[in-house]
Amino acid sequence: MAKSAPTPQAGDDNATDDDVVSLLMRQHGDIRNLFDEVESATGDERRDAFRHLVRLLAVHETAEEEVVHPFARRNVPGGDAVVEERLAEEREAKEVLASLEDMDPDSPDFAERLLALRTAVQEHARAEERYEFTHIRRSGDAGRLAAMARGVKAAEAMAPTRPHPGVESGTANVLLGPVAALMDRTRDAVRSAMGG
Ligand SMILES: [Fe+2]
Ligand SMILES: [Fe+2]
Repeated sequence: MAKSAPTPQAGDDNATDDDVVSLLMRQHGDIRNLFDEVESATGDERRDAFRHLVRLLAVHETAEEEVVHPFARRNVPGGDAVVEERLAEEREAKEVLASLEDMDPDSPDFAERLLALRTAVQEHARAEERYEFTHIRRSGDAGRLAAMARGVKAAEAMAPTRPHPGVESGTANVLLGPVAALMDRTRDAVRSAMGG
């Protein structure tokens, strides 16, 4: 397998992108690339890539809970049912994620559960693109769209930058606490960016 290009850092093009759907689609792409990276790396590199994936998933899903799903509830026909389905998928993904976090990333079980997570996350992303993003694109409310883009960018800025592979591994080895806290901070940042 060819060595893939480095995954773009969340927030890299923070300053220029004001299209909320493009921002979210790019995050879906970043998440896909990080799954590739976790799958192909080993040892400390795999650990670091997985930690980065978890953080990006945390800020991405928090942004969608605050920005995308509320829009879909109000503007998509049958919006409540659409959103309930997405929330159920996100809960399922979080359960698989919780089952992964205490595992040795090089164990065979890890690869199997990672694949389960990847499948759940990608099916979820496809459903969002199909049932929610298409409606957001059609929205003519420029002010609302700009506020949504501000919210997603504020979330993206909360995904910590990643040092060189291996550097992080000795430090943060507990994921749940930091991730829960990250989601709380992200929620606050999104709300203040959208309200401002
Ligand atoms: Fe989502
Ligand atoms: Fe998503």
